[in-house]
Amino acid sequence: MTELDKKAQDLGVDLRVEIAGVELSNPIMPASGTFSPWESSEFYDLNELGAAVTKGISAVPWDGNPLPRIAETYGGMLNSVGLENKGTDWYKAELLPYLSSFDTKIITNLAGHSVDEYVSAAEALSGRDEIDMFELNISCPNVSQGGIAFGTDPELAAKVTREVKKVIDKPLIVKLTPNVTDITVIAQAVEDAGADAVSLINTLFGMAIDLKRRRPVLANIKGGFSGPAVKPIALRMVWETAKAVDVPVIGLGGITKGTDVVEFLAAGASAVGIGTASLMDPTAMVRIKSELIDYMHDNNFATISGLKEAFDF
Ligand code: FUM
Repeated sequence: MTELDKKAQDLGVDLRVEIAGVELSNPIMPASGTFSPWESSEFYDLNELGAAVTKGISAVPWDGNPLPRIAETYGGMLNSVGLENKGTDWYKAELLPYLSSFDTKIITNLAGHSVDEYVSAAEALSGRDEIDMFELNISCPNVSQGGIAFGTDPELAAKVTREVKKVIDKPLIVKLTPNVTDITVIAQAVEDAGADAVSLINTLFGMAIDLKRRRPVLANIKGGFSGPAVKPIALRMVWETAKAVDVPVIGLGGITKGTDVVEFLAAGASAVGIGTASLMDPTAMVRIKSELIDYMHDNNFATISGLKEAFDF
């Protein structure tokens, strides 16, 4: 048992949640792309996580976007990484064996430039028992083909969801972009196409300008904005989406402390993802888990479902 699971047990707090039939020991997981298992394990016990979510994995390696591709901004940060990754062969040979040495669920995030590429990545990883769930990234704002192009069009979002579902044998989470007029339209489209859960929000389109260089800070000009400043937007979209679909919602966006998690659960999320906070403090997820336990104990909540039921709006 982990240190924090022991703390929860001693305080009479049960953090378990279920997403699409998969039980997680607690609702906290990294946002895709903000978590390196090898580096993170130098800072904390990865068994503390409800799930380990990987960076987007494509069928073949991708180089990503030119540098600079990260910029700190007021209230958050911009990234334009461009889904750099080493592809499914590397994933199977290196990352998956390492991740499966921990007692946490494994969520594999899938990337592609086209429906065929998403399907190829999914096919390459299908049948691997170590993987508990897949997450379909149709919301990356930093690639010119694929990513957000699928996430802003309900028909394309449904098509890629349907085709990937055909080749996998595990539940599929579809990760949604906030860069749309009405996120519930996309959520409903992917739910109808077979998504088992949705995660939101990915980053918001943003940019920053370097006045000395008289150039955008990011080589790609635009990037995805994340961090504490986006939390009210994310919370609103999670609340709207949780009302609009029957599948579980995983909430992400600006979570930096335990009470932020409580707000997302109150808004209808079944679990949460933490991203930018971990880039500021590599131990953020375990601190936030500990704060969640404290909040539940101090407010007499024995279970996550009990906590969620106390907020009815
Ligand atoms: O550019 C990136 O790798 C970011 C991906 C995402 O936001 O989904």
